[in-house]
Amino acid sequence: MLWTLLLLLNGLLILVLLYYSRTRQNNEPPLDKGFIPWLGHALEFGKDAAKFLARMKDRHGDIFTVRVAGHYVTVLLDPNSFDAVMNDTVLLDFTRSRNLLMKRIFSLQLPSLKPKAERKWMEQHFQGVSLSNLSSSMNTHLQNLLLSDHKDCNPSEWRQDGLFDLCYSLLFRAGYRTLFERRDNASAVYKEFRKFDNLLAKLARCSLKRGESKTANSCRVRLWELLSPNCLSGGSGSNSWQQSYHDFLQEEGVDAEMQNRALLLQLWTTQCNAGPAAFWLLGFLLTHPEAMDAVKTEIRGLTLRDTTLQHSPITLLEAHSTPVLDSVLSETLRLTAAVMISREVVQDKSLHMASGQDYHLRKGDRVCLFPFLSPQLDPQIHQEPQIFKYDRFLNDDMTVKDKFYKDGKMLKYYTMPWGAGSSICVGKEFAVTAIKQFVFLLLTSLDLEMCDPEAKLPPVNPSRYGFGMLQPDGDLQVRFRLKRTLREM
Ligand code: HEM
Ligand SMILES: *[C@@H]1O[C@H](CO)[C@@H](O)[C@H](O)[C@H]1NC(C)=O
Ligand SMILES: *[C@@H]1O[C@H](CO)[C@@H](O)[C@H](O)[C@H]1NC(C)=O
Ligand SMILES: *[C@@H]1O[C@H](CO)[C@@H](O)[C@H](O)[C@H]1NC(C)=O
Repeated sequence: MLWTLLLLLNGLLILVLLYYSRTRQNNEPPLDKGFIPWLGHALEFGKDAAKFLARMKDRHGDIFTVRVAGHYVTVLLDPNSFDAVMNDTVLLDFTRSRNLLMKRIFSLQLPSLKPKAERKWMEQHFQGVSLSNLSSSMNTHLQNLLLSDHKDCNPSEWRQDGLFDLCYSLLFRAGYRTLFERRDNASAVYKEFRKFDNLLAKLARCSLKRGESKTANSCRVRLWELLSPNCLSGGSGSNSWQQSYHDFLQEEGVDAEMQNRALLLQLWTTQCNAGPAAFWLLGFLLTHPEAMDAVKTEIRGLTLRDTTLQHSPITLLEAHSTPVLDSVLSETLRLTAAVMISREVVQDKSLHMASGQDYHLRKGDRVCLFPFLSPQLDPQIHQEPQIFKYDRFLNDDMTVKDKFYKDGKMLKYYTMPWGAGSSICVGKEFAVTAIKQFVFLLLTSLDLEMCDPEAKLPPVNPSRYGFGMLQPDGDLQVRFRLKRTLREM
């Protein structure tokens, strides 16, 4: 009797172990579960995803499956095969993991909202006819903020600040005023937002310590208050983007509480990338004098060609092409934009790779593209990929260089800062214009230099891989003052 019971228990245990210990089938990608039960590679992944995935790529090649906190994630690192994932919007679903993140980070649930409708609403507001209005409003706010930040001090006096803070703060406040059309104190929103943004990666991974969890909650509540339409200091125009967004959510059947919370999500998606991008761009220029000279020469050319003498950046940038600055921006984003494109496998499916091989994907797993490793930092595609070369995306005849190859095949995706397919950044054109305006404005109206001429760019904060633009660990100290005349550059 005892023996049968023991045998039975043993059998059960083995069944349970077999059930939980998945093994690789013939037609599946290489499987790497890590040593820790259930957690698998979660710790390494969270600490520095780029380093971890690069190690896995060396070991397994362009496609492999890893276990991360109970989930099996198939990582695809061959850009020639990306379309097989991007094109399948039926068996590979992106709304589920997005909804999960929305809930974790923003305490936001929008079950009634149809992703297609939301996407369409956004396109209407950030693209096409709206774009030039947004861009010129952005330009005005940037100029006013830059001048008002300097109004209390002697123009010839040098001021010192971290470059990251300088860029993020200016672009955030200008972007906030442009989209939310409010006259309230944008600095207060910025301060609270930065605290929240600093905890974002941990919020997404549920790895907050107790004290941090409290801070995150209070930041979130404070930001909901600051953004709410009834906030007394506010006063938002009735035609504003914010009002229109409220109306849209109302029509979609979203309740008032969630409407308000959704504003924080919008604040984050629209403001978290441009500031850091501008930081890296100016940081690379300051630490690469030959690139700085090339950009300044190009800008000088624009302002000289402008005979009306009132060279507002926006009209100049609209009227003339700036191939050097464009290449600098592409090269900056190649090195510092690290989106992770994630899909959930809704039904067992077969993934056809460019190499001709087919891999079986299991229902319930995730598929993940991490373009930062490939194409962006792939030595087969970009020579010396770690190095900033301002003219990497420039042909000899000053046209855009857009032909890059891997395994002899021309690539559709040779850099992917904006994502791709159905979830590609809606604000791309607006963001490019805003960053170019910002760089133009800073270089033409400020004397700007590093405090320590020998300084190097700070390293990347490794916890932010996968969340869009990377941020530095530390800052680059700069000093700056208003130029006496806008012409001397
Ligand atoms: C350098 C600047 C920027 C970069 C690198 C960037 C990058 C991205 C990426 C990679 C995504 C897709 C995320 C995913 O696949 O899940 C995205 C989405 C989005 N971006 Fe940007 N972005 C930038 C600036 C902006 C700006 C200035 C705006 C606003 C005007 C904006 C608005 C949006 C919106 C609304 C979405 C969500 C689209 C959707 O859910 O379908 N972005 N961005
Ligand atoms: C994916 O879709 C694009 C555009 O619709 C098409 O050009 C491409 O051939 C498709 N690729 C695959 C692998 O399905
Ligand atoms: C753009 O701005 C002008 C003037 O402020 C306004 O008349 C026009 O309706 C705006 N267009 C759009 C598409 O918002
Ligand atoms: C705006 O808020 C910041 C930070 O909270 C504060 O330092 C500043 O004095 C405020 N300015 C105005 C005009 O209210």
